[in-house]
Amino acid sequence: MYSDKVMAHFANPHNVGEIPDADGIGKVGNPQCGDVMWLYIKVKNNILTDIKFKTFGCGAAIATSSMITDLAKGKTIEEAKKISRQDVADSLDGLPPTKMHCSNLAADALREAIKDYEAKLAEKARA
Ligand code: FES
Repeated sequence: MYSDKVMAHFANPHNVGEIPDADGIGKVGNPQCGDVMWLYIKVKNNILTDIKFKTFGCGAAIATSSMITDLAKGKTIEEAKKISRQDVADSLDGLPPTKMHCSNLAADALREAIKDYEAKLAEKARA
């Protein structure tokens, strides 16, 4: 039911952890299952130089979190914003239909972290 890629990321997720001095933090919960994900980003010269996650969720949520960190690292903010739920699922060679909502969590967490980063930038500009 799960692709080899999903299983590999679930068994050995990339970029797990927390960035204490993160430039942006995204937290999303999934109302359908109650799972929660935190995503931390570091940004330098508009590039996502580091990204880590903590996910309390199902195996697919862990695999999609891991995949989105791989997809987003090294991208510009603009490029990272374009990473869709479908991109995450496609990069994992697909997810079972009942698990597509898990990839939403990862994509939404990334967007939230970028929003947080941009809000902090705007705040700094005002100060
Ligand atoms: S079942 Fe909750 S994110 Fe997958």
